[in-house]
Formats: sequence, C-alpha cells, structure tokens
Amino acid sequence: MLDENNRVVGQAFNQEDEETEYTLRPKWMNEYIGQDKAKKNLELFIKAAKQRGEPLDHVLLHGPPGLGKTTLANIIANEMGVNLRITSGPAIEKQSDLASILTNLGRDDVLFIDEIHRMNRSVEEILYPSMEDFSLDIIIGKGPSARSLRIDLEKFTLIGATTRSGQLTSPLRDRFGVLLKLELYDIESLKEIILRSSKVLKIPTDEEGALEIAKRSRGTPRIANRLLKRVRDYAEIEGNGTITGKSAIEGLNLLEVDEIGLDHVDRKILSTIIYNFNGGPVGVDTIAASTGEERITIEDVYEPYLLQIGYLNRTSRGRIVTPKAYEHLNIKYTK
Ligand SMILES: Nc1ncnc2c1ncn2[C@@H]1O[C@H](COP(=O)(O)OP(=O)(O)OP(=O)(O)O)[C@@H](O)[C@H]1O
Ligand SMILES: [Mg+2]
Repeated sequence: MLDENNRVVGQAFNQEDEETEYTLRPKWMNEYIGQDKAKKNLELFIKAAKQRGEPLDHVLLHGPPGLGKTTLANIIANEMGVNLRITSGPAIEKQSDLASILTNLGRDDVLFIDEIHRMNRSVEEILYPSMEDFSLDIIIGKGPSARSLRIDLEKFTLIGATTRSGQLTSPLRDRFGVLLKLELYDIESLKEIILRSSKVLKIPTDEEGALEIAKRSRGTPRIANRLLKRVRDYAEIEGNGTITGKSAIEGLNLLEVDEIGLDHVDRKILSTIIYNFNGGPVGVDTIAASTGEERITIEDVYEPYLLQIGYLNRTSRGRIVTPKAYEHLNIKYTK
C-alpha cells in the first residue's frame, strides 16, 4: 500500500499487509526462493543440529528491510520442529522482561528478536550468559543484602534480526555462531516470488506481468508483493483481472514507480545531490537535511538499491552520483 507520501517502499504496515503477509510467508525452506548462499548454509546447520539432537546455534540475520528475515526465522523453527517465540529489541524494556521470556522457553525453542540492535544495554548484558551457558544471573535485593541467583535455562536458539549489523555491540555479535547476510534479490527470483504469491492470492498473472513487476521491485520481496496487489487492483478495474505485461506496466506507471523501480524519493535524493552538491561527494546527513528524509531511511531503505544498481557510490568523503544515474534522469553529466 502507499503511505501518506505516496510511497510504495518503507517499513510501515497497514492492516491489509499484515493479513496477507501471514498467508504469503513461505513456511518451509523449499518454498523460500533465492538467497541460495544463506539457504545452503542454514540447511546444512539445521541438518547437523538435528542429527546431534541439539538446538541450532544462535543465528544473526542482517540485511535491508523486507528481504525475508522474519520469514526465515519462522522457517528455521518449522524445520527444527520447535516453537517460535517472537519479540523485538525495543519491546524488551527491562531485564525482568527478558528474564521472563527466557525462563518460559521450552527445550530447543527458537527465540526471535527483531531489531536486535535497538535492545538496551542492561537487557543485553543478561543475554550474554543466557546465550553462552543457558543460564541467567539475576540480582535479588538491594544494598548489603543483595545476592545473585543463577537460574538454569532450557537450551534454546536465539535468532537476531537487524538492518544494521554495524550497530550491534561486539560482545553481542560475537555470541552468534551463524552470521547470515541477506542480499537484494535478482529479477528472476523476484519473478518467481511474484508468481508464487499470485497463486496463493489467486491472482491470474502471466510470465510477462510477473517480470514487469519484478523489474520494479528494488530487489525486495515485500515490495514485489505490495506492487502485485496494487497492479491487481488496476487489472480488476481497468481490465479483465489478469495481470499481463501490458496491465502491469500501466498499473505501475500510475503508481509513479519507474521502469527500474525508482520512486519520487529516489529521484529526489539523486537530483538533490546533482543540483545542490554538483553530484557529490556529499555526506548522508547533508542529504537527509536537504531532502527532508531521515538519515536512517536513506541508509536502510533507499541507498542499498541505488548502490546495487550502480547509481550511487559510497566513498570516504560521502556519496557520489554516477553518470549512469544522470543518464537515467535525463540530466547532462558535466565533470
Ligand atoms: N525468499 C522468499 N520467498 C518468497 N517470499 C518471500 C521471501 N522472502 C520474503 N518473502 C516475502 O516478503 C515479505 C517480507 O518478508 P519478511 O517480513 O520476512 O521480511 P523482513 O526481512 O523480516 O523485513 P523487516 O526487516 O522489515 O522486518 C513476506 O510477505 C514474505 O512472504
Ligand atoms: Mg521482519
């Protein structure tokens, strides 16, 4: 769905998304499309852990939003045949919140902590012994009568997800046995995801229609699914309900998503650097101030795709717009 700025990207959910998100999520590894490297590794580790009758080592998933981190956590729990408990860094406010979550985990269960980089330090500290020795050290009482109590926990697997692994403290990062980076998806994988989602949602979609949506999905399954639903609306109202190459292109043009998936915010970022800063280099804080977008949104949502398609370069002195981007925007390159 579009947000108030008419954007199709971003992390905000609406209700429609939350409902279909659930049905669209692959539940098993063999339905999870793309990310071959991460998948291969995980399959091996899961198999080995099951053979030994042990929980899977702690897993850290990192990568831009909407690439399938939450989905993968669900799949891991399913494949291991254990329960999944979901929470997020900012939701765990006090040490006692985390202590109660941890003591309620069953043997081999998976605890998924989304946005783990936003967990507060004092909470993080009690996570260390839990991850390492499956035990919890808590202090009871205050002052001279205070004493420390050690509680044994069931063995469990922690899966942390973060869009910014650089913000994780190193003691926390070091306690994960498996670090997996999710990459932006290629167009073929996105097309496959769109065809799969069409089947689940019972939207008649042909190969060309799926391809057109894939090309504009910025390497991101969540955006692919979102665009699919908007193009469905268009095809139902303006056509016979089938998504073809033609109805996809027409529907996507209405959304102001261009043929490579850039929306007006991408264009604003690029043209601001070009016109106000002579193409760069310019720091990301300055870009944020001049475009009115938040720094973290630029870094997490917009930049990864612009870097991937080679429209932006990151240097020690700041961001530079490449000649390729000038050409796409129809602006003469003068340097
Ligand atoms: N490999 C995949 N194959 C099929 N569908 C996928 C795949 N990865 C993600 N999806 C779909 O994309 C959507 C977004 O995935 P998910 O919520 O897991 O992303 P995320 O990485 O957790 O995002 P965020 O960082 O915003 O929490 C889901 O609806 C899911 O069904
Ligand atoms: Mg998620």
